[in-house]
Amino acid sequence: MEYKRLTLVYTAALKQLETKIDTINEEFKTLHKYNPIEHVSSRIKSKQSITNKLKKKGLEATHENLIKTINDIAGIRIICSFIPDIFKIADMIENMQGITVLKKKDYVTTPKENGYSSYHMIVSVPVSLSVGTIDVKVEIQIRTMAMDFWASLEHKINYKYDKQVPKAVRKELRDCAKMTHKLDKRMSHLGRNLMEEEKQAIKEITTEYTTVYTTALLSENAGI
Ligand code: GTP
Ligand code: MG
Repeated sequence: MEYKRLTLVYTAALKQLETKIDTINEEFKTLHKYNPIEHVSSRIKSKQSITNKLKKKGLEATHENLIKTINDIAGIRIICSFIPDIFKIADMIENMQGITVLKKKDYVTTPKENGYSSYHMIVSVPVSLSVGTIDVKVEIQIRTMAMDFWASLEHKINYKYDKQVPKAVRKELRDCAKMTHKLDKRMSHLGRNLMEEEKQAIKEITTEYTTVYTTALLSENAGI
């Protein structure tokens, strides 16, 4: 397996997706004076992790096996302010030109048994190479800051106990996840109040923006 050649296409796919997400965020900031994304991070799975994952699946470390069976070689994590932002962002990703959604998992509406909450998508991004265009899979995780706080701690605990987490700790984590969810709901409520005030302003700015663009396009066409 040639890790360097492999990472080239996944890095390209990540870059394209990150640019699209960044554009949405900038547009929100400019038009709506509101920013639904706190931050975005991305990563490529290490060679060791890929090999381990294939081994766990009982598969040989071939190019074909990993491209077909591993969905998270390239991953993007989007951290939002409030719960409704998660669905807004997911919707926008779904509507992005050229991006195909292959799989969705909504652990926000229905958290996992251990308390984990996040919205997952596997998307396919077309990457143009000299030899042609190939479709590259990227895993997207969308969650709030509170969900991210819980998930990173749970990940560390799992790692510390080598996945054999004592029952009492697991229960404590589940309780914390419930508290996290309550906090998210209260914060989202506060956020909604904040956004109500902005709603009218958003409407006006959006109308203005559309009008300006339509007028500009019309006059451009008239000049042809
Ligand atoms: P893999 O776990 O990647 O093999 O995929 P899957 O088919 O189980 O998909 P799923 O969408 O459930 O999980 C994808 C990724 O989400 C994982 O690789 C983790 O990064 C993250 N994730 C899923 N479940 C948990 C969890 O219980 N705790 C934490 N901290 N992260 C999780
Ligand atoms: Mg993973």
